[in-house]
Amino acid sequence: MLERTACGKIILFGEHAVVYGRPALAAPLSQIRARARVAARATKGVLIRALDLQREFEADAATDEPLAALARLTLAKLNASANLVLEIESAIPPASGLGSGAAVATAAARALAAYFGTEFTPAETAALVYETEKLYHGTPSGIDNTVIAYEQALCFTRKTPPQPNMIAPFRLARPFTLIIADTGVASPTKLAVGAVRRGWLENPARYEALFDEIAVLVAQAQDALARGEIDKVGALMTRNQRALEQLDVSSREIETLLKAGLRAGAWGGKLSGGGRGGNVIFAVAPRDAAQIERALWDAGARRVQTTEVTRDRPNF
Ligand code: MEV
Repeated sequence: MLERTACGKIILFGEHAVVYGRPALAAPLSQIRARARVAARATKGVLIRALDLQREFEADAATDEPLAALARLTLAKLNASANLVLEIESAIPPASGLGSGAAVATAAARALAAYFGTEFTPAETAALVYETEKLYHGTPSGIDNTVIAYEQALCFTRKTPPQPNMIAPFRLARPFTLIIADTGVASPTKLAVGAVRRGWLENPARYEALFDEIAVLVAQAQDALARGEIDKVGALMTRNQRALEQLDVSSREIETLLKAGLRAGAWGGKLSGGGRGGNVIFAVAPRDAAQIERALWDAGARRVQTTEVTRDRPNF
């Protein structure tokens, strides 16, 4: 069977505000991936097998399944029709802020293209997956599908069509160590994004001011990253977290892990992605990583991983 993969992602700074046109910084999570495999079958049409969910459905019949939509859109773009099985498997926990929906869709688009002997550019993949992100998220900014399709750390700013979104790799003086701790609370991005939207509609001035505050933190973080001042990056993460709390997308479990990580010596931390559950990220000194990891397990984290944010674009 032919296989293609796609990475997970983290948002370093700027989630939620990015939906409202402010810049945000995101990085790929290359070591946890979604996989898609394609093989021919005798029966007509595309059968999608979501192995983790133990579900299967026909792409033509499942009108409200994002992956079915993705398969139909991808085949239309390829100008192809075929009798296929598309198998999906993912090591990225769903509804945890790590981009599982976009990663699964990206792997699927890549596998379908490869089956027909071609390859999409990152921009083409991002555009296809954005269509399915709309089904997952309601009003996605486009940051998840973009960072996953490019598999590169980048600064993303949503623009109003016909203007294209702004995508630029951010400067990173040196790689830095990041700990990712899972609260174990599944929290669909769509719900958190919807809650922020309601708050913004009720009180636009307050929300716009918070988004502006986050945009300033994003700019300061870019300076600190470019200078390699990772302790400062950490402190800015904690300030971004305070703004996210005011947007009401934090939670008791997030706060518990945050406190534990900071007490154990992390430079700073914040929720990552939609919030209200999912993962908390920490900028740490490499020598402190082991003790911070232990403290996070002790505080109830369901999964803890240490990774490096780098400049390089890995192979996928
Ligand atoms: C989700 O990873 C990031 C959010 O800002 C939503 C979006 O940008 O579409 C919460």
